[in-house]
Amino acid sequence: MKIAIINGPNLNLLGVREPSIYGNEGFESYLKTLNEVYDGEVELTYFQSNHEGAIIDQLHKIGFEYDGIVLNAGAYTHTSVAIADAISAIKTPVVEVHISNVHKREEFRHHSMISRVCLGVIAGFGLDSYRLALEAIIAHCSN
Ligand code: DQA
Repeated sequence: MKIAIINGPNLNLLGVREPSIYGNEGFESYLKTLNEVYDGEVELTYFQSNHEGAIIDQLHKIGFEYDGIVLNAGAYTHTSVAIADAISAIKTPVVEVHISNVHKREEFRHHSMISRVCLGVIAGFGLDSYRLALEAIIAHCSN
């Protein structure tokens, strides 16, 4: 099974950026753990970009081939019609992920442009949100 994790803007700074909200662990280190847990079961790939168009290009590139995509679009979640359109355009199911519980935060984070075109949404479990999203995709694919 091939699953891609795509992280959007500022998520390259995980571990450094606002640790009280996003924690102390960098994504590369967490990805190592995920790869160990899913070794042999899931082929995981990782892509991060701070640029909206690059995220869209990546969705187009893998979105007709992969079994699932875990997407943390960062702040683009709340603004990007273009990313929502890209998710609608591809075949691969996308799970929207947030490290923080966006509904406990500022009001502008309560609305997502992409939720309606995603398979589901997982938010508020720290980095474990990504593992929960992987589990959701694995369950979805085996149904
Ligand atoms: C985030 C929440 C967004 O509101 C924010 O802009 C991010 C990270 C999260 O993972 O909690 O960059 O997607």
